Amino acid sequence: MCGIVGYVGSQSALDVVMAGLKRLEYRGYDSAGVAVQADGGLAAAKRAGKLVNLEKELMERPLPAGATGIGHTRWATHGGPTDANAHPHADNAGRVAVVHNGIIENFAVLRAELAERGHDLVSETDTEVVAHLLAEEFSACADLAEAMRLVCGRLEGAFTLVAVHADAPDVVVGARRNSPLVVGVGEGEAFLASDVAAFIDHTRSAIELGQDQVVELRRDGVRVTHFDGTGAEVRPYHVDWDASAAEKGGYASFMLKEIAEQPKAVADTLLGRIDPSGSLTLDEVRIGAAELREVDKVVIVACGTAFHAGLIAKYAIEHWTRIPCEVELASEFRYRDPILDGRSLVVAISQSGETMDTLMALRHAREQGSKVLAICNTNGSTIPRESDAVLYTHAGPEVAVASTKAFLTQLVACYLVALYLGQVRGTKWGDEIQAVIKDLSRISVQVERVLETMEPVRELARSLADKDTVLFLGRHVGHPVALEGALKLKELAYMHAEGFAAGELKHGPIALVEEDLPVVVVVPSPRGRSVLHDKIVSNIQEIRARGARTVVIAEEGDEAVVPYADHLIRIPATPTLLQPLVAAVPLQVFACELATARGNEVDQPRNLAKSVTVE
Ligand code: G6P
Repeated sequence: MCGIVGYVGSQSALDVVMAGLKRLEYRGYDSAGVAVQADGGLAAAKRAGKLVNLEKELMERPLPAGATGIGHTRWATHGGPTDANAHPHADNAGRVAVVHNGIIENFAVLRAELAERGHDLVSETDTEVVAHLLAEEFSACADLAEAMRLVCGRLEGAFTLVAVHADAPDVVVGARRNSPLVVGVGEGEAFLASDVAAFIDHTRSAIELGQDQVVELRRDGVRVTHFDGTGAEVRPYHVDWDASAAEKGGYASFMLKEIAEQPKAVADTLLGRIDPSGSLTLDEVRIGAAELREVDKVVIVACGTAFHAGLIAKYAIEHWTRIPCEVELASEFRYRDPILDGRSLVVAISQSGETMDTLMALRHAREQGSKVLAICNTNGSTIPRESDAVLYTHAGPEVAVASTKAFLTQLVACYLVALYLGQVRGTKWGDEIQAVIKDLSRISVQVERVLETMEPVRELARSLADKDTVLFLGRHVGHPVALEGALKLKELAYMHAEGFAAGELKHGPIALVEEDLPVVVVVPSPRGRSVLHDKIVSNIQEIRARGARTVVIAEEGDEAVVPYADHLIRIPATPTLLQPLVAAVPLQVFACELATARGNEVDQPRNLAKSVTVE
């Protein structure tokens, strides 16, 4: 949420910053802006709307060349998406430029103080106060890093700030509290960004910035300090994915590319999980086996698509370990005073590792003495860093706002966590675990097969482009799949889409069914608990009798559904608990195609952002 880039070096800062912003546009696209140091002052440009508007502006009115600069792509919080509210923000003399991600909660008080001292604030943002405060502090100490530390000491809330000052040539300063910021170190140049994707073309050498730290970038190096001015330990790491991973690679959208990457993402997430002795291993487990044996409750916290992965995980965890498992929306979790103690294991699922709601939920859990295990796709991000154990999904960078490959890998990770708990607690034998791993290792090929048979699904999606509503039904693990199918359609196609537990239909939702209403039904395997399958076949008949157009997703060889399916989508046979891994895929393709047919841009749906770093 909001993308930030900073650069010091000898290249054109504008080129580096604009290319970085392009990579970060998934974080917000309400407006964009840049500022560069040039001719002893600052030159800036900003425009409401997507980055392309700023590009046009820069073509029409080019900025002078400079080798130090900052940039921002915005997801609006305070103040609408206008030119005036776009970042960077400046002080009245135009000597400071600052960009921000997060929310400064005490901005109204600071703004009033500044107004009293004669400052003229021109935007509706919370960010602008920082530019004015920095200008004041800098005029007293002539040190931008020190000025930033002093200003940060006065701010409440969550923020990543990056600033330049006309009188601090070749210096960019960044600060971080509860919002992401990574440093890239090159030869005679340095970078700051919300995500390594912004500088991966230039350097693979990165530094994690900790909480409440300030970083000063110069051509010849970086210096990291805590907000109190003391030196901070620098933790460098190597970024191991290559730049092409952040490119569309011939696909029309990142979403299509990421859907296609799912077989590999699933296989990569399983890689190296069984050690030579046949035991399952996770990435970093700082929770002892004895403690895991004491766990009497698992609580999963997550948001959006990751929450749906959590809902599915509950079935596997309870079935394989017999430990009660609750799944909570992270944004609700800490406000209802959940019952937690040292025997509760909290599992935080997050693709980005930066979602503020999930981060706050895990902090609350740790304050109550619970252990936290993170399932995350982003190395070095805040959520795994603050957790006691981590299992990384190896989906590679996910750029499209709507999550696809991260979802499938989160599911794989959840199954692994459930098996791991079963292993440690002895509720699953080694051979049983290996049998499930074997089933999981077949999924990659099965997803591949699903992807090869999607043309009828795309055709169907196009034919439904003018519909207002689509409903999704499922039972057991198919219920969260239905919820995810509906979420995908909402976020991409801007349609009314709802997912229901099929059995709940008769208690209300069936009133929504009318002639030709498309209803997608995820059918459980007839080879699993046959009662589940039989019940959903009855549900399909009930809605069809009331005029619904049924779109049935069913296992190959399931003939019982054929008479009731207006459209039949086949998926490979999998064990009941693992079916979401294949059943979710046609729903992703369906939503992507339907949204495209409606003329929507699937990578950047309206009003959304990928990494949601505000509560
Ligand atoms: C946003 C994204 C969703 C994502 C959710 C959780 O809402 O648009 O696609 O599922 O955040 O993100 P996380 O990074 O924590 O998995």
